[in-house]
Amino acid sequence: MENKTKIAVFASGNGSNFQAIADAIQQGWLDAEIMLVVTDRPGAYVLERAKKIDTASFAFTPSDFDSKQSYEEMLKGKLQHLGVEWIVLAGFMRLIGPVLLDAYENRIVNIHPSVLPAFPGKDAIGQTMAARAETAGVTVHFVDAGMDTGNIIAQQSFQVNGGDRETVENEIHAIEHRMYPATLQLLFKETIS
Ligand code: GAR
Repeated sequence: MENKTKIAVFASGNGSNFQAIADAIQQGWLDAEIMLVVTDRPGAYVLERAKKIDTASFAFTPSDFDSKQSYEEMLKGKLQHLGVEWIVLAGFMRLIGPVLLDAYENRIVNIHPSVLPAFPGKDAIGQTMAARAETAGVTVHFVDAGMDTGNIIAQQSFQVNGGDRETVENEIHAIEHRMYPATLQLLFKETIS
């Protein structure tokens, strides 16, 4: 049996988490194959990253479509054509709608830069700083119709200890880049065994 899980990575921006996943695959500790990088922002840096490592990518502009349903139908067609088994959200700043949620039930995961349920939604790190929270962290969770509300798969937290935003952000990214590929590997192994 082919043991590489076929994934699509959805990202809206820099793509450092996409890079961490691609690096883990290349280093041989994540048994997956990135079939497609999808972005809703045609200028996103993640596209440059994908190009550099010869990974197929697809950019679309949501406002070119009548509705979320119509662009998700288009994406679903592409993903199914490529045999994509899991959708991995890595800084994709859009809610997933019923078309993809139904097609990929319990097969869509997200990473979020807070210890959910604290600070869901946009700018979770800014929210953490504004609240003068004692702890910050990262959550990997299944995606449902809500905003960062799906079942939690893994979490890691650390003490803010008066650190400034830059320090907290760097720590969060360092955690994310280890935690996301490692969590995906556990998840994929569980699912195929
Ligand atoms: C990451 O910190 C990720 O946790 C966050 O966006 C950043 C993307 O960085 N996601 C969310 O806030 C989702 N609600 P990257 O583009 O460098 O991977």
